[in-house]
Amino acid sequence: MELAPRLHTARTCIRFAGEADAPELLRYRVANRAHFAPWEPLRDESYFTLEHCVQAIAEGRERARLDRGYPLFVFDRGDRELLATFHLANVVRGAFQACHLGYGMAERAQGQGIMHEALQAGLAWTFGVLDLHRVMANYMPCNERSARLLVRLGFEREGYAKRYLQIAGAWEDHVLTARVRPEEP
Ligand SMILES: CC(C)(COP(=O)(O)OP(=O)(O)OC[C@H]1O[C@@H](n2cnc3c(N)ncnc32)[C@H](O)[C@@H]1OP(=O)(O)O)[C@@H](O)C(=O)NCCC(=O)NCCS
Repeated sequence: MELAPRLHTARTCIRFAGEADAPELLRYRVANRAHFAPWEPLRDESYFTLEHCVQAIAEGRERARLDRGYPLFVFDRGDRELLATFHLANVVRGAFQACHLGYGMAERAQGQGIMHEALQAGLAWTFGVLDLHRVMANYMPCNERSARLLVRLGFEREGYAKRYLQIAGAWEDHVLTARVRPEEP
C-alpha cells in the first residue's frame, strides 16, 4: 500500500505532513480559529501550540502506518501554504472496507472549488490505492456549504442521526451521507 501519497491537482499538492510542517499547521489553526469553531469540538488553548501540532502530525502518521486513518494536508501548488485538510478516519477493513471523511479549509481559500478539487483526487486515491469500498461523511443540517460540497462529490443521503456529535460544546444532529465505490464494469 502507498502510505505516503503525493497527489497533484491543478491547484493543490496533497500529502501527509511531517514534523517540519508543524509551524505551518499552527499558523493555519490560529488564523482559522473562529472560522472552524462552529463546526468542531471545543478546543482548549493547548491545541493552538506548536507542541500540539508536532504531536498531532506524529500521531496521524502512526494511524496511517497502522491503516487506521489517513490525515491528509492540502497545500498550494508550490507546496508552501496549507489551504485545507481532510481525514479518512475510522478505517474498518474486513467485510466493511469503509471510513469516515472529515474536512475543513482555510476561510480565505473557500468559494473557489479547491476543496472539491482536492477531495476528488483524495477519493480516487481512497477507492483505488487504499482499496476502500465506502466513504461516509456527516454534516450538521445548517452547514449548507458542506452539504453542497458532498452533493457535488456524489455523496448520497442515507439517514439522519439525532444528537450525533458534540460540536462546539453541544450534541448536534447530523445528516448521514456516503459515497460507495462504483461497481467495476
Ligand atoms: C465545508 C467547506 C470545506 C466548503 O468549502 P467550499 O470552498 O465552499 O467548497 P468547494 O471547494 O466545493 O467550493 C465551492 C464553492 O466555490 C465556488 N467555485 C468558484 N470557482 C469554482 C470552480 N472552479 N470549481 C468549483 N467551484 C467553484 C462554487 O460556486 C462554490 O461556491 P458557493 O457554495 O458559494 O456556490 C468550507 O466551508 C469549510 O471548511 N467550512 C468550515 C469547516 C466545515 O464546515 N467542515 C465540514 C464539517 S461537515
